[in-house]
Amino acid sequence: RTVYVNGEYLPETDAKISIFDRGFLMADAVYEVTSVLDGKLIDFEGHAVRLKRSLDALDMAEPCTKDELLDIHRKLVELNEINEGLIYLQVTRGSDGDRDFVFPSEDTAPTIVLFTQNKPGLADSPAARKGAKIISIDDIRWGRRDIKTVQLLYPSMGKMMAKKAGADDAWMIEDGYVTEGTSNNAYFVKNGTIVTRPLSNDILHGITRKAVLRMAEEAQMKIEERLFTIDEAKEADEAFTTSASAFVMPVVEIDGVALGDGTPGPIACRLREIYLEESR
Ligand code: PDD
Repeated sequence: RTVYVNGEYLPETDAKISIFDRGFLMADAVYEVTSVLDGKLIDFEGHAVRLKRSLDALDMAEPCTKDELLDIHRKLVELNEINEGLIYLQVTRGSDGDRDFVFPSEDTAPTIVLFTQNKPGLADSPAARKGAKIISIDDIRWGRRDIKTVQLLYPSMGKMMAKKAGADDAWMIEDGYVTEGTSNNAYFVKNGTIVTRPLSNDILHGITRKAVLRMAEEAQMKIEERLFTIDEAKEADEAFTTSASAFVMPVVEIDGVALGDGTPGPIACRLREIYLEESR
């Protein structure tokens, strides 16, 4: 694989980052994941805008312009011959060669890394045809989940808790209400109405969420953005998640309770179809 590190395209085995990099020592870094379908970037603009928002929120410098970022994405897709897959982008606050809680001086260069992940079958996914089983877990993450930082230890542990319980993923609960999935936004559908948590600092402002809600509205579907409990979701007709890496993923079971007939619901399937059609 050819990867990108601080201005250079290199074989992945030649790519190097300082051991003092704050991304490594302090999780002082933000990231984006953009999907590729038919060799084309999906919603690059949305991801670039959110990256800028994350960088601004943490007083981090922009490593390059949006146009340069687009060029890097396109070049990596081409060099690695990605037809279906993902591009991972990470920007860290860099390093001034030591460990310190205080940020390094403003002229410290940020670190920027991008790599591709080849995922044939991302669109026509067997996992999406089956639907996901999820469990619920406490949300013990920090309070700025709207910033896409690389502090992913707890979401990663959540995914492992799900696997251990024989499920695929976890939804997190805070103060009695579902926040989001470990790496996706969460929805349920009852009597034809799609319900999802409103945007705030409590959840990531999903790029796929925005696109899917727009498409649902255009398809005359009813949407309610409000807080909801896991019990409400368990009694739903269907449920689903959205993310750049899995698009619209039907949820067929929550905490061992099957939703509807336990197969992917019609609204989730329709939205997945519309999303894949319109994004291409
Ligand atoms: N995760 N919520 C969380 C906590 C996420 O990590 C993600 C994305 C989303 C969905 O956002 P978007 O639609 O912009 O992908 C919601 C990425 C895919 C990841 O960590 O791999």
